Amino acid sequence: MVAARITVNGKETSISPAAPHTTVLDFLRERGLTGTKEGCAEGECGACSVLVARPGVNKPTDWVAVNACLFPVAALDGQEIVTSEGLATPGDPGTPSTLHPVQEEMALRGGSQCGYCTPGFICSMAAEYYRPDRCGHAAPADGADAEHGPNGFDLHALSGNLCRCTGYRPIRDAAFAVGAPTDEDPLAQRREQSPPAPVATEYAQDGKEFLRRNTLAETVQLLRERPDAVVVAGSTDWGVEVNIRSRRADCVVALDRLSELRELRVEADHIEIGAALTLTEIERRLDGRVPLLAQLFPQFASRLIRNGATLGGNLGTGSPIGDSPPALLALEASLVLADADGEREVPLAEYFTGYRQSVRRPGELIRAVRIPLPLSTTVAFHKIAKRRFDDISSVAVAFALDIEDGTVRKARIGLGGVAATPIRALATEAALEGNPWTAETVEAAARVLQAEGTPMDDHRASAAYRSAMLGQSLLKLSAQTTEAVSS
Ligand SMILES: Cc1cc2nc3c(=O)[nH]c(=O)nc-3n(C[C@H](O)[C@H](O)[C@H](O)COP(=O)(O)OP(=O)(O)OC[C@H]3O[C@@H](n4cnc5c(N)ncnc54)[C@H](O)[C@@H]3O)c2cc1C
Ligand code: FES
Ligand code: FES
Repeated sequence: MVAARITVNGKETSISPAAPHTTVLDFLRERGLTGTKEGCAEGECGACSVLVARPGVNKPTDWVAVNACLFPVAALDGQEIVTSEGLATPGDPGTPSTLHPVQEEMALRGGSQCGYCTPGFICSMAAEYYRPDRCGHAAPADGADAEHGPNGFDLHALSGNLCRCTGYRPIRDAAFAVGAPTDEDPLAQRREQSPPAPVATEYAQDGKEFLRRNTLAETVQLLRERPDAVVVAGSTDWGVEVNIRSRRADCVVALDRLSELRELRVEADHIEIGAALTLTEIERRLDGRVPLLAQLFPQFASRLIRNGATLGGNLGTGSPIGDSPPALLALEASLVLADADGEREVPLAEYFTGYRQSVRRPGELIRAVRIPLPLSTTVAFHKIAKRRFDDISSVAVAFALDIEDGTVRKARIGLGGVAATPIRALATEAALEGNPWTAETVEAAARVLQAEGTPMDDHRASAAYRSAMLGQSLLKLSAQTTEAVSS
């Protein structure tokens, strides 16, 4: 067995004797790095945020902020992280440390009172500070974009961090005051080199294992030999199961660094998105090329969660309230499934078979998602949730319509939260297709949409509310389109 090791604040250390399910948060705190805090242990508060060196989008390495409470430290074998303690520069003996620029701005502008949330805010803020394309994307001079500072700071970088006592204005002031990293800044320099390469991991303690293979072929062979294994990518779902529901697996197999699951290719007739790319990576690499996904991403959890969450994991849970399935159904996506016998392509519309059930066989994983081209031109993703950001959907509706010369030529509508599985709104699609895009058509189709699915009452919303929201979503789309305005 190869010893698992991790570099924390520049120092390499063994992971042993942590259990395979031990989170990065618990590992750090047990080693005395208690700046990293536990607030919720389920990805909701950001008190545990740390920086990980990951493959960059615009530079070889990006410093990415993630929730240390959600993923196992064994998943970081061979990797490199920085905690709030590692951001300041220690002084010579007898002299104080030099604060990091984001720490200094938080201190100067009163961004910290009790301080419990502060290290998490500092790490999320530092990730945005080092985002290579941040400077140069300032808010418009008229201040129309309240979510971006004059220094290009995107406040959504802090959407996964909660503060209970300071209030957010001083924190925002600090975020909008940070400048650009200097050429001498060691973490800025670190971005110019590649991140650590993935390493094969065989980590075991007390009969439980955490395994990582180098290639897809080795991984699917391992899954054939170990049908009991749980596969994980970003661990944003699995980490909650471990922490809150005390789930323990005898064998966990990591997929997140497999290169075969991390490609994004634009072909003549489709776009293929690797199942283990994070949502942040997809968002930045597509850069608006799939407008329906561009609408989805900001509504999907927080930046901290999107820095870990993958499409493979969102589809792998089979949840009826996952946000990507409605959008991918409207885009008529298919899934590339892989096992030791090879690959097969399954339309997403045929993938789900029941509540958290799918056609995926034991030992089979999702390698990629394929979206056919060309894309429909009128699209919208409407997520109805109790909070505007960082909340689970009560209902999600995705539209992809082709409206030509005032007539709906094609309609694809995906729904989440209104049945045991994500579904297509087939009756509504039929009510729209071939008809003029007028108020009459929309109102009639909205009544059909309202009756789609079999919504239930639960703690998020009543069945009646869910149905009403379905109908409203089409009326909202209609109001948003110039075609409907002119009809
Ligand atoms: C605070 C918080 C907020 C959230 N908000 C949202 C939200 O707004 N919308 C939403 O839809 N979800 C949300 N989620 C749920 C979660 O983030 C997503 O489902 C995410 O996409 C899971 O991806 P992952 O890589 O982290 O999955 P993991 O946790 O690694 O895995 C999840 C499941 O999928 C399986 N799996 C993973 N990868 C594959 C693969 N390639 N092939 C087959 N199976 C696979 C695993 O075995 C596991 O059963 C939230 C979660 C948290 C903690
Ligand atoms: S402890 Fe709350 S997000 Fe990790
Ligand atoms: S400073 Fe107290 S919770 Fe933020």
